Amino acid sequence: MSESLSPVSSSPSSLATARPGIAPRVAIVGGGVMGLSLGWQLAGAGCAVSLFEAGETGRGASHAAAGMLAACAEAEPGEEELLALNRASQALWPAFAAELEAASGASVDLRTEGTLTIGLTADDGARLRHLFAFQTSLGLPVQWLTAAETRRREPRLAGQLSGAILTAEDHQVDNRKVAAALKIAAARAGVSIFEHSPVAKVATSGGRVLGVVVGEELKPADVVILAAGAWSRGVDITPAAPLPVRPVKGQMLALRMDPAAPLLNHVIWAPGSYLVPRRDGRLILGATTEEKGFDTDLTAGGQLALLTHAWRALPGLEELSIHEQWVGFRPGSRDDAPILGPSAEVEGLVFATGHHRNGILLLPVTARLVADFVLSGRLDPLAAPFEAGRFAPRAAAE
Ligand code: FAD
Ligand code: GLY
Repeated sequence: MSESLSPVSSSPSSLATARPGIAPRVAIVGGGVMGLSLGWQLAGAGCAVSLFEAGETGRGASHAAAGMLAACAEAEPGEEELLALNRASQALWPAFAAELEAASGASVDLRTEGTLTIGLTADDGARLRHLFAFQTSLGLPVQWLTAAETRRREPRLAGQLSGAILTAEDHQVDNRKVAAALKIAAARAGVSIFEHSPVAKVATSGGRVLGVVVGEELKPADVVILAAGAWSRGVDITPAAPLPVRPVKGQMLALRMDPAAPLLNHVIWAPGSYLVPRRDGRLILGATTEEKGFDTDLTAGGQLALLTHAWRALPGLEELSIHEQWVGFRPGSRDDAPILGPSAEVEGLVFATGHHRNGILLLPVTARLVADFVLSGRLDPLAAPFEAGRFAPRAAAE
């Protein structure tokens, strides 16, 4: 895959067979970064795109996130195929950000200082050594830093440090600015955006999509893209099975630094929390991981844990004022990997959801792979492991 987003393929679409030779009419369910970016790409390629958002665009997980593009720091054992997707998306980010900024006229604050995963105690240091060996075995671009080298990069870190892993390609972006820029870019490309318009169901006939139902009204479409994040299971897609997507609650907290004298410049993964410094002076602390459905409560325990872990890593933060506290819902699938590409049960139904902890990281590659599929009917092999069909019940053994 090239490291630029454009041009999206414009070869004949097998999904447009309802109206041969004419670009498909696309209805997108959900106005988070996934829905907005797909709208932008597909309208730019000549499709008539309508995007339906239950509330206001960009206010779901895309608003709640920390914006880390942490393919290396968040690599997990057993997730090699996901790692390939994450790394491909990471490589696309600089071009994606530049194209989005040009298309919208708005900055998205892509920062390239990289990420430090730090250890405080000797125990942490031993754990970090194991992580470093694992990351090295995957061929990831990681560098071991001694305590002194770590402190040279970030002098305000705690007095006791046992070293750090530098993942220099793990950048960050301001996800709220990304969502705002995508809305502008999508509208400029011709996407019709309907806010406060929840989609109740995907209308079908004879195993093919007819459109989406909003209120009592059918909005006709040849292709429907389900990009409703943690709420994707709530959209009726019968006769297809409901998607196995659940909300994974995360509490967050932002402190206010002096933008001219920030306490940190790198993204920091410390034991128990991460710290993300923004250009505007916010220092974002995250995040809890809770299986509590759509519970929006901020809890004393959740906030205390974030502050305590972050304070151990960066004691100077105790002087900072609290700027904001919030809750968001990661769209977690049954295997915590995204769900991309066509439904095997309903022709014309396409999924772009389930991005869990890495939806901001996975944005450029999702926009590319899913838009290409809608336009060409071909799914890039990179996306094949993430088709919804992996969740289909297996035939009973004979
Ligand atoms: P959303 O942004 O949630 O958008 C879905 C939209 O669909 C919402 O606007 C919703 O209102 C709408 N909708 C729902 N139902 C309907 C309906 N019936 N009809 C119409 N519209 C509907 N990822 C990273 O890569 N890096 C990070 O650092 C990071 N940090 C995170 C921290 C937290 C606390 C959380 C919660 C998430 C984090 N993520 C991170 C994950 C990332 O935010 C998500 O994976 C990503 O934003 C998902 O985007 P989305 O567009 O699918 O979902
Ligand atoms: N990727 C960070 C989070 O989901 O909290």
